[in-house]
Amino acid sequence: MAREKPHLGTVQETLLIPLYARAVENRKEQALLRDTRAEEIVASIDYDFARFDAPSLTGALLRTRLFDRWVTEFLSVHPGGTVVEIGTGLNTRYERVDNGRARWFDLDLPDVIELRERFFTDSRRRTMIAASVTDDGWAADVASHSSGPYLFVAEAVLPYLHEPDVRQVFDLLGERFPGSLLALDTAGPGFFDTQDQHDALSKVAARMRWYCPDPAHPAGWRPGTEVVSSHTLTSLPDALIAELPPPPTSR
Ligand SMILES: C[S@@+](CC[C@H](N)C(=O)[O-])C[C@H]1O[C@@H](n2cnc3c(N)ncnc32)[C@H](O)[C@@H]1O
Repeated sequence: MAREKPHLGTVQETLLIPLYARAVENRKEQALLRDTRAEEIVASIDYDFARFDAPSLTGALLRTRLFDRWVTEFLSVHPGGTVVEIGTGLNTRYERVDNGRARWFDLDLPDVIELRERFFTDSRRRTMIAASVTDDGWAADVASHSSGPYLFVAEAVLPYLHEPDVRQVFDLLGERFPGSLLALDTAGPGFFDTQDQHDALSKVAARMRWYCPDPAHPAGWRPGTEVVSSHTLTSLPDALIAELPPPPTSR
């Protein structure tokens, strides 16, 4: 079958980096995670993925493992809860951690959802939504087709928005889904300031727009918001580290 060129906007193109990280990892004997679907998708897209070959792909995989763990923990407490992937890209978290009962939504910009529809289909419990996270129309869609508790997942998404838009997302979630959880990652100032030299991000045109020196900072934007848990790639939960394969040098 002929491979197709993706037609993606600037920030949308960044989804190809974590997708490629998961695809490459899946070929390894001892992998940080398994993702056969990512490998199939990469094989069917006409794009120079090899330019992303760089050490930071490991960081992207560890981040994904942490987000997978947060979703698994949420579903263990709320098996019939709702997971909303904000800026889902070609993420395959449902394939990795769905429990057979939860309601899932995969939200991203229209050109991403158009691409995503080539590889994924909606089902009774799983729905794609083409919208910007900053347009509140999607919230009504989610609310009318699900019930809580809600976990909103924004992996490698919010740093690409300007801070007023990130604040708008916090307000939207706080107002429309009070008491819900939001899993997000932030970029610190050091990472932000050196992004032009980043080994993968520098290969695309998109740049991060928001950095955050301390996760407690955005929690201060809305009264009642609290940080439940916070990790860096060098302070991952012990239980997660215990599940990882040994580092390559000792393999
Ligand atoms: C680095 S990719 C991460 C994709 C996915 N979360 C993953 O980890 O594989 C960033 C994603 O954020 C999406 N995104 C950026 N701005 C957005 C917006 N305003 N609304 C919805 N999605 C957005 C992009 O289209 C892209 O899919």
